[in-house]
Amino acid sequence: MDIDRRSFIASLGGTAAVAAMSHEARADALEDHLVERLDQEVAGSLAGRTQFPTVAELEAQIETRTYRRGAGNLFAGAANRTKLAPMPARPTLLDYFNLRFQPATHVLQSATRALKTGMSEDVIVACLLHDVVQALIKTDHGWWGAQLFEPYIPAKSTFAIRYHQALRFYPDSAAGYEYPELYFRVFGQDYVPPAYIQETYKMVRNHRWYMEPRLVTVNDLYSFDPKAVVTMDPFVDIIGRHFKQPKEGLGFDNSPVAHIWRTIAIPDTPL
Ligand SMILES: [Fe+2]
Ligand SMILES: [Fe+2]
Repeated sequence: MDIDRRSFIASLGGTAAVAAMSHEARADALEDHLVERLDQEVAGSLAGRTQFPTVAELEAQIETRTYRRGAGNLFAGAANRTKLAPMPARPTLLDYFNLRFQPATHVLQSATRALKTGMSEDVIVACLLHDVVQALIKTDHGWWGAQLFEPYIPAKSTFAIRYHQALRFYPDSAAGYEYPELYFRVFGQDYVPPAYIQETYKMVRNHRWYMEPRLVTVNDLYSFDPKAVVTMDPFVDIIGRHFKQPKEGLGFDNSPVAHIWRTIAIPDTPL
């Protein structure tokens, strides 16, 4: 801690007062001054501080982590340390849910909420699929997820998945969406979305399909009831109606995204 010599002397009554002090009294005064300054510094750094990290604090953790935060769960999470069950020869969406997207509780809870509140099947499909690409990658998961599903689902559902990522950062009280407190922890309390997210938000806000991704964020629950039981059962028919399952199996239909499905199916393949 630096001490400002002049203000310290002034606090003791000036040079003449200090000259009149015994050596011991000066030492005590210095110690008192240092303790007081230390208390002030601690109080100052605590004031205005919440339990949430800053962007700078999160950035400082990059070099101490064993993984990059954008890595998907299959590559960075606990699933990476277990032997994965093999996929069937012609895997369906449900096979991927059962064998690669687990636990899918978050998306099942989101879709269950959309179903119970009477939302359109386009929105229910989007809720069910909106985050599952995080098995592969988390960075820009809205865009990755939309790309993964685009050949197989309705255009409105693709739009909803792609843009829920940007809308998450922008509250819409009228629609029932507030900024989630979790994001103060995940992105930093002083986080400002990058320019491409700001631009995307402006575009989507004025788009005629704005409510589709907005409703995904509304159903994107951040606090879950751990006892809530959710299953795929209510969605099997909806998937049957809206998901164009390729007969060759996902990953083997030569679609522009088949390789992405294969990477999710076989993440232990080295090259
Ligand atoms: Fe998401
Ligand atoms: Fe989500």
